Amino acid sequence: MTSTTRPERKKVRIHHFREMKARGEKITMLTAYDIATARIFDEAGVDVLLVGDSLGDNILGQGNTAAVTLDQMIPFVRAVTGATSSAFVIGDLPFGSYEVSPQQAVTSSIRLVKEGGAHAVKFEGGRRVSAQAKAVVDAGIPFCGHLGFTPQSENMLGGHRVQGRAEGAYETMLADALALQEAGAFMVVLEMVIEPVATKLTKALDVPTIGIGAGPGTDGQVLVWLDMAGIGDWSPSFAKRYAEIGKALGKAASAYASEVKDGTFPDAGHFFSE
Ligand code: KIV
Repeated sequence: MTSTTRPERKKVRIHHFREMKARGEKITMLTAYDIATARIFDEAGVDVLLVGDSLGDNILGQGNTAAVTLDQMIPFVRAVTGATSSAFVIGDLPFGSYEVSPQQAVTSSIRLVKEGGAHAVKFEGGRRVSAQAKAVVDAGIPFCGHLGFTPQSENMLGGHRVQGRAEGAYETMLADALALQEAGAFMVVLEMVIEPVATKLTKALDVPTIGIGAGPGTDGQVLVWLDMAGIGDWSPSFAKRYAEIGKALGKAASAYASEVKDGTFPDAGHFFSE
């Protein structure tokens, strides 16, 4: 092993999350959709990779998450699990693949595990999907909940709106979160929930919460990797841009194109002379 090689990290397992919550260690999660980024994030020590249905917005160009199908999700989940050696990989069940019945949720979850290699599944909603969550857990598949702003229900929620501000919102969300915990959820994502509500929910639950736009009081954080890495010109206000990868990639592509045009590339060392 060279001095620059990271020591091999232990596989992140489902029981580690409650242990991390208990000792106050924050859980790190990033989305990933392909081999290259999954490998980089895994090696960087990110605890959980989420193959989210944000795939629809960020990779497939569908403009929303609701259009994503289970058949579309599976190869992306496969790519991420195949490139990961220690991170825990969660696959999203897309809209239309779990709402109809607990049986539908189990059948779809089995596909994500069997064909995609997912370690766990996530789907959106509280009490309305708790029977689905219980059935999935009873089938032996770890389940992660998702409350607050739930993009698949964007039309019901009246658009991309911060959650938790309405009178009684905390009590409603608490009942939903407890129903998911009771059903066997090992973790709950809280998206765009105001900080005091997210913090109170985190304290009320035994299982860890993972926030996205929900403040520092949750047990962990998740960001869409393209927002975190600065791929596009815009990231949501809650997503800190840790790099400007889009600009760096654009610069590399334009240097390459101009060297090909002027004949500088391929130069000696970048072709086979015999
Ligand atoms: O689909 C997704 O990427 C998600 C995260 C934003 C939590 O659900």
